[in-house]
Amino acid sequence: MNEHDSERIGGLLMADGMLPTDDVDQARVIVLNTCAIRENADNKLYGNLGHLKPVKDRHPELKIVVSGCLAQKDQGLIQRKAPWVDVVVGTHALPHLLDLLKESETDGPQMDVREYTETFPSALPAAREDAFRAWVSIAPGCDNACTFCIVPLVRGPQRSRSIGDILAEVQGLAARGVVEVTLLGQNVNTFGRDVTVPASSPTPLFSRLLREVGAIDGIRRVRFTSPHPHDFTPDVIEAMAETPTVCEHIHFPLQSGSDRVLKAMRRSYRRERYLGWLDRIRAAIPDIAVSTDIIVGFPGETEEDFARTLEVVERAAFDSAFMFQYSPRPGTRAASFDEQVPKVVVQDRFERLVELQERIGAARSAAQLGAEVEVLVEGGDKKGVSTQARTRTNRIVHLRDVLEPGTFAQARIVATATHHLTGELVRSPDAVTA
Ligand code: 5AD
Ligand code: SF4
Repeated sequence: MNEHDSERIGGLLMADGMLPTDDVDQARVIVLNTCAIRENADNKLYGNLGHLKPVKDRHPELKIVVSGCLAQKDQGLIQRKAPWVDVVVGTHALPHLLDLLKESETDGPQMDVREYTETFPSALPAAREDAFRAWVSIAPGCDNACTFCIVPLVRGPQRSRSIGDILAEVQGLAARGVVEVTLLGQNVNTFGRDVTVPASSPTPLFSRLLREVGAIDGIRRVRFTSPHPHDFTPDVIEAMAETPTVCEHIHFPLQSGSDRVLKAMRRSYRRERYLGWLDRIRAAIPDIAVSTDIIVGFPGETEEDFARTLEVVERAAFDSAFMFQYSPRPGTRAASFDEQVPKVVVQDRFERLVELQERIGAARSAAQLGAEVEVLVEGGDKKGVSTQARTRTNRIVHLRDVLEPGTFAQARIVATATHHLTGELVRSPDAVTA
């Protein structure tokens, strides 16, 4: 979601006539689009602002902007700590960025941290890193209250866009040559729940959206993130299995393998139900790759609880996992729980979990040896001697051939590592070889 917003910020500035630069001394505007999900993301802001102080001293006309979740969370604190910040723009105020910049020219530092989204950022112009793929936000915000999570506090309640609006955006993207879209929501399974009259929609809307997006001409890959194991429904599995463009990959956040911890997290599924969904998903889509999110060291997590997580990780056989050390977020329920787990214990558990997952991930990856797969080329390495591409299952493939980003090719996997595969080109029907 943060990357999606960054693309809109770039789009707004470019629509206003600006161009991107890598040189801070050339910049007229610098935007730090922040994330507040964990402490390390949070700490980075003030460090970066410190580095920008001498740049601002050299170029007083430079405008420094802080946007995103941390802007929404820290609000006035940012300009108190770093008075050289010209504009603070929260998660709901992005459409007003250009006005705020103009006002700061005449009226000094500006801040807009309004609490409600009037215009979806998706309606703003975008400056995308890649011309062939795009994030599509379907429902910003979140109605859950996971006790560790700051998202509902900084992004507000879920607000679904209309299906028509989303389809129109994807059609527009396809017309401009985009071949892959990733549908974005904090809890995609509840997409539409906030706009439908209760009981008026017999099929949950997300599976319908998947089918309709998947049928748009020119779109060859559809991804989505993230489903929530509590609200997951079988019709989503059916839509995935029956829509050829929907990729064989699911990101399915586990968070913990201990029922006691899941309860304290207010994640209202349990380990057996989670594993049951995985079985059903894999039965319907045999070669699907599964990734997950896991938090280690949630307050009150015992060695016994942690052992349950290791057990589930072993049983689930994830292809990859984002693993995090619990980080107390101000304003969340868990931040005030007693029994915070000591840092050394968290570190030790984290290392054991990473080691187990690396072993499992390497084995899953090794099973790809010899497979022939469709890859979408993402870009070349800096020296221009190889290419990075991605399988439908979201695995990274390194190819020796230099191919045009955004083209598809067939590759045979000739070597595997934990986090990537090496492939040889079998044929590349629509690839332009440089
Ligand atoms: N501490 C550690 N990890 C967190 N996440 C969210 N909040 C926290 C926190 N306070 C992780 C969750 C979520 C992912 C995006 O970030 O695993 O799924
Ligand atoms: Fe945070 Fe839970 Fe909402 Fe995900 S579902 S954004 S973890 S509150």
